[in-house]
Amino acid sequence: AEPVRAAAHTRVPLAIGHRGVPVQAPENTLASVDRAADLGITWVENDVQRTKDGALIVMHDTTLERTTDVKRRFPGRAPWKIADFTLAEIRKLDAGSWYDRRFAGERVPTLRGYLQRVDRNRQKLLLEVKAPELYPGIERQLAGELQRAGWLNARHVRGSLVVQSFSAASLKAFHRVRPDVKTGFLGAPKASELRSYAAFADQINPHHRSVTAAWVRAVHALRGPHGRMLEVSAWTVDNGDRAVDLARMGVDGIISNAPHEIEDALEED
Ligand code: G3P
Ligand code: CA
Repeated sequence: AEPVRAAAHTRVPLAIGHRGVPVQAPENTLASVDRAADLGITWVENDVQRTKDGALIVMHDTTLERTTDVKRRFPGRAPWKIADFTLAEIRKLDAGSWYDRRFAGERVPTLRGYLQRVDRNRQKLLLEVKAPELYPGIERQLAGELQRAGWLNARHVRGSLVVQSFSAASLKAFHRVRPDVKTGFLGAPKASELRSYAAFADQINPHHRSVTAAWVRAVHALRGPHGRMLEVSAWTVDNGDRAVDLARMGVDGIISNAPHEIEDALEED
């Protein structure tokens, strides 16, 4: 990756809905992504994992008990790992009641259904491959599913999709299969190590406490695999003042449980 001239960075960062808008609707559900759309939030983040019978679903935890009623429905199946349940079993679960009775009957989305909904809402997706070490080959499978869902056409690839992971190995694997799709590495590598990430990642997305203005400048000084300046989206930021600080440090995106409040705070600044 070759260096680019560090430009003055004055754009307002994007506010990205972390798992939808979990301050208003249960995380990683269609209700949450619809809520984001209603609030005018274009970019949503979500997590993808794989069931026992090989289906890709949208969920953050690697076990089902926090965000569904699995304990009540399948009491003998502790520790309720996603990888130990079939899609049919998981689709029976209620993924809304734990959050609020108003969301009773909400289901765990399949990735396919989630992609359709995000597309229908004209939204864009920051899609995290969660715990890829538990799901060998998920990168190739994900590429196939994105293709079948119509998410690898020129429009989506150019501006509607970023695949991210905490695992550099997984991102590299995905980048090998679909080098055209933008990727994001979750973490904050040292400035001296950033160059090696620029070979396969278009974004470096750190915990917000790791961000400094100098580090953002070091990221921005590199070009990613598609020849563009590497970008930074910080997570997870629910405080408006903190979002304004991060904007002043030059970040490009802010991933938030309350993205509409972050937008308001950034607009007021
Ligand atoms: O998008 C960044 C953030 O989602 C990473 O943390 O645990 O919420 O998936 P986590
Ligand atoms: Ca995530």
